Amino acid sequence: MKKVLVVGGAGYVGCILIEELLAKGYSVKVLDRLFFGQDPAKGFLDRVELVVEDMREFNESHLDDCSAVINIGGLSNDPTAEFNPRANEELNTTASIRVAEVAKRAGIERLIFASTCSIYDRGVGEEVRDVLLDEESDVDPKAAYATSKLAAEGPILSMADDSFAPMAFRKGTIFGFSPRMRYDLVVNAFVKDALSKGKLSVHYGGAMWRPLIDVKDVARAYVMALESDVGLIRGQIFNLTAGNFRISELALRVQRALRDLGVEAELDVDFSYRLVRSYRVSGQKILRTLGFEPRVSVEESVEHMVHEIDRHGYRDFSHPRYYNIEWMKLLEESVDIARTHGYVLTKPDFTDASGLSSEASRVRPELPAR
Ligand SMILES: NC(=O)c1ccc[n+]([C@@H]2O[C@H](COP(=O)([O-])OP(=O)(O)OC[C@H]3O[C@@H](n4cnc5c(N)ncnc54)[C@H](O)[C@@H]3O)[C@@H](O)[C@H]2O)c1
Repeated sequence: MKKVLVVGGAGYVGCILIEELLAKGYSVKVLDRLFFGQDPAKGFLDRVELVVEDMREFNESHLDDCSAVINIGGLSNDPTAEFNPRANEELNTTASIRVAEVAKRAGIERLIFASTCSIYDRGVGEEVRDVLLDEESDVDPKAAYATSKLAAEGPILSMADDSFAPMAFRKGTIFGFSPRMRYDLVVNAFVKDALSKGKLSVHYGGAMWRPLIDVKDVARAYVMALESDVGLIRGQIFNLTAGNFRISELALRVQRALRDLGVEAELDVDFSYRLVRSYRVSGQKILRTLGFEPRVSVEESVEHMVHEIDRHGYRDFSHPRYYNIEWMKLLEESVDIARTHGYVLTKPDFTDASGLSSEASRVRPELPAR
C-alpha cells in the first residue's frame, strides 16, 4: 500500500483530504502541531500514523516508507501572516523548502506544495489588469501570505529532476464543511452570518472577484495528482478553481441556496471602499493536463454545510477556533499566561503511572522567547 505523508493534515483541508486518501486505499502519516486540537481529526486518528511535531524540525525520520508528501501545513491566510511575519516566513517559505529538500534527498517520488491564487491579486481598482490569469501570468504579490507562498514555489519546483517530481497547487478560496471548520472563508462566513444573524455581510459592495472551489474537490485534485503520470506534474503549477465569482453574485447565490433550505437572510451591503484582493484565474491547465473537473457547486456545498454544522454541533459561531487569526492570537496569549505556572486552570498531575513523582516529568518544557 502506498504511504503518503501529509504535513498539516489535521487542518481544514487536511481533515477532508485524509478521509479521501484513506478511502482510496492509501496508508497515511500526518505531521501536525495540532494547533486546532485533536478533536477535528478524531474520525481518522485510529487509521493514520500521527506525528505531533513542528514542520520546522522536519527530517528524514518523518519519511520512513513514504512515497509521496503533501505539504498543507503553515499559516493559511493574510491576517495570520501579518500577525507574525517571522513565523509566516519560517513556515510557509523556509520550512516548506526544507520539507522538499529532505523529501528529495530521501528519494520521495512526488511532493505537492499548497500555494494560493492570492498570488495573482490585481486589486479592485485595477480594471485594466482584470483579466483571466493563468499559470504563466505575471505575479507580484504584496501581502505577506502570498509573498511567502511565491517565495517557496520557485525553489521547490526548481528541485524537479528525473527522480523527484515536485508540483504546486495554487488554490482558490476554498468553501465547504470540514470537521476542522473555518468560518473565516467567504462562503462559509456567509453561511455563518445567515445562521447566526439572519443576514449576509457583503463588504466593499462585493465588487471583488475570487476564484473558488469546494474542499471535497480540492481533496480529489490532490489524489488525482498523486495518481497521474508523474511526467505530467513534474515541476508544474496548477490553478485549482471551480470558477470565478464576484462576491456580490456569490452572496446572492448563497442567499438563494439558504432560502431553499428554509433559512431567510438579508444582504447587508457595505459600500465603503478599501483596497481588497481581487483576481480571476483560469482552471484550464489542470483540466487539459490531468482531466480534473470540479463537481461540487456552491449551492450543493451550502446545503451540505448547513446539515453538517448541525450534525457536528458547530453552532457556537463566535468561538475563536473557527477563525485562524482569533485562535492564533488566543494561543499566543495563553502561552504568556501558562509561562508562569505551566498551566492555566488545572494543575497538571506530575506523578507517573507508578504513583511516584517523576523528576523528569516535573521539568516543564522550555518555552520559546517571544
Ligand atoms: N483554505 C483555503 O481557502 C486555502 C486557499 C489557498 C491555499 N490554502 C493553503 O492550503 C493549506 C491548508 O489550508 P487550511 O485551510 O487547511 O489551513 P489550516 O490552518 O486549517 O491548517 C493548517 C494546518 O497546519 C498545521 N500547522 C501549522 N503550523 C505548523 C507547524 N509549524 N508544524 C506542523 N503543523 C503546523 C496546523 O496545526 C493546521 O492543522 C495551507 O497551506 C494554505 O495556505 C488554503
